[in-house]
Amino acid sequence: MDTTTESVKPPRDTWGSKLAFVLAAAGSAIGLGNIWGFPTVAGQNGGAAFLVVYLMAVVFIGAPVMLAELIIGRRTQRNPVGAFRALSRPGSRWVWVGGLGVLTGVIILSFYSVIAGWTLAYIFKTAIGTFEHGADTAAIFGDVAGNPWTAIGWHLAFMILTVGVVIGGVRDGIERWTKVLMPALFVLLALLVFRAVTLSGAPAGLHFYLNPDFSKINVRVVLAAIGQAFFSLSLGMGAMITYGSYVSKKDDLVSDALFVTGFDTLIAFMAGLIIFPTLFHAGLEPGTGGPGMVFVVLTSLLGSIPPAPYGGIIFGTGFFLLLAIAALTSSVSLLEVAAAWLIDERNVSRHKAAIWLGALSFVIGIPSALANGAVGWLSRLPGLGTDFLTFLFTVFGQYSLVIGSLFISLFIGWVWGTRNADVEVRANNGKFPLGRTWNFLIRFVAPVAIVAILASLLLP
Ligand code: PHE
Repeated sequence: MDTTTESVKPPRDTWGSKLAFVLAAAGSAIGLGNIWGFPTVAGQNGGAAFLVVYLMAVVFIGAPVMLAELIIGRRTQRNPVGAFRALSRPGSRWVWVGGLGVLTGVIILSFYSVIAGWTLAYIFKTAIGTFEHGADTAAIFGDVAGNPWTAIGWHLAFMILTVGVVIGGVRDGIERWTKVLMPALFVLLALLVFRAVTLSGAPAGLHFYLNPDFSKINVRVVLAAIGQAFFSLSLGMGAMITYGSYVSKKDDLVSDALFVTGFDTLIAFMAGLIIFPTLFHAGLEPGTGGPGMVFVVLTSLLGSIPPAPYGGIIFGTGFFLLLAIAALTSSVSLLEVAAAWLIDERNVSRHKAAIWLGALSFVIGIPSALANGAVGWLSRLPGLGTDFLTFLFTVFGQYSLVIGSLFISLFIGWVWGTRNADVEVRANNGKFPLGRTWNFLIRFVAPVAIVAILASLLLP
């Protein structure tokens, strides 16, 4: 039964322990997508109605695709391009799915680094006590993101950090950060939830977030929910294929996939519990404010954390520091996909691959850095009405991941086959809990749901 020993491959770096892999995968998943992306997209798409669709998308589509990517990764021990090449017939077009993933990773990284750059700036802003009670947090955001030099400078700083970690390689670079970060982030978030839900005005925010108005669900809400789920879970572009490629055969992939999916979703849910009560407390409209919304809203909480002003300073600095590290463990996975491709397929050294790709992504990110006030037409694209960063987020952070995930589910469900997948899952102890459910979800539910939603977009 065991067909998993492919002995001709050179020895490959693997994670130091099971826990290290799970934490690194969680580190990839948990990032700006949870704390910045989720509340922003949920606010724009009706709050509670979005939450319901989002949770369904995570359970029925996200979790199965997560397992699918881990299976492909561990089975082939390759980057996404190499993985599709290894599992399909020679000359097959399936490698393009891997190629799309590589491209998508570099482009997502370009704007991801811009937002993460704001986070870096906010570490210092909070530390010097900028956000005292009653501070004009929107104006402060405008100062950081609207100034071309600070926006590009912090974007560059974050990109350099990302490149640095990727050069360090999988074990030394990525593992070290995530072990301490995840629990600490969780604790700080829990405290912020507590602060937010005890504000005056919180009930209205909780109502918006937790009381679904099902009439608000439409095709765009569903697509946004699916796209956001893939973005938040790091799916559809091969990040989990790449991380899965470093997993040892002894690991239980099913429990890994479930843990990462569950933890990621919990963090996003908590971010909503912080943002929406605070938003209503401050009398702001959900769904407006664009990419800066979360920064404006979160910092308005800091002035009211006792004892003033130190509570807000300590808390805020800690929070943005952790958020920046969470973003870093995600951005590293975005860059690692393309880097692994250059290293495995083109024989480029890790050093060179990381630097060149980071430089490319930095340059692609410059318009996004200028799209929040610095340059007028980038901040409001003619004909589209959104800013350039939001535009890239929608096209690459959502559509491209949805399409990538569709192909991954079709590939594993119908081309390479769930029977092979089954063998890979059972490689450690012969068991595949929820195997039949997964089979059904990955072959039918995920592809049909995605195709249906994409097709209905094309209808008038
Ligand atoms: N999941 C990451 C986040 O939520 C972003 C990401 C998307 C990382 C796709 C890798 C691949 O911040």
